[in-house]
Amino acid sequence: MFQLVILVFTMELFKQQDVEDFYEVGEELGSGQFAIVKQCRERSSGLDYAAKFIKKRQSLASSRGVRREDIEREVTILQQVQHPNIVTLHDVYENRTDVVLILEL
Ligand SMILES: *[C@@H]1O[C@H](CO)[C@@H](O)[C@H](O)[C@H]1NC(C)=O
Repeated sequence: MFQLVILVFTMELFKQQDVEDFYEVGEELGSGQFAIVKQCRERSSGLDYAAKFIKKRQSLASSRGVRREDIEREVTILQQVQHPNIVTLHDVYENRTDVVLILEL
């Protein structure tokens, strides 16, 4: 039950706006199978972050992209754990195809 409440809370935190309206996206820092990490700067504060663009899986049958529940699990962990070796989550955006995690550098 507690886990469920956290998941609902997490999903509501995903902003449905265009991340580029709020962050200036810069050079690529690295990439994996379904994610690209790019440098970005928050327009309102001028602070630098890393933006992790994760491709969402578009159908149950597909093997490409990351399942939404797995993205939510990553977000939930990042929100709950405060540790020097774990990056802090600043913001989360999403649209139909991508989830974008804004992470502290
Ligand atoms: C979703 O957001 C990503 C990252 O900003 C962008 O590259 C992509 O084109 C967007 N997709 C849609 C369907 O708007």
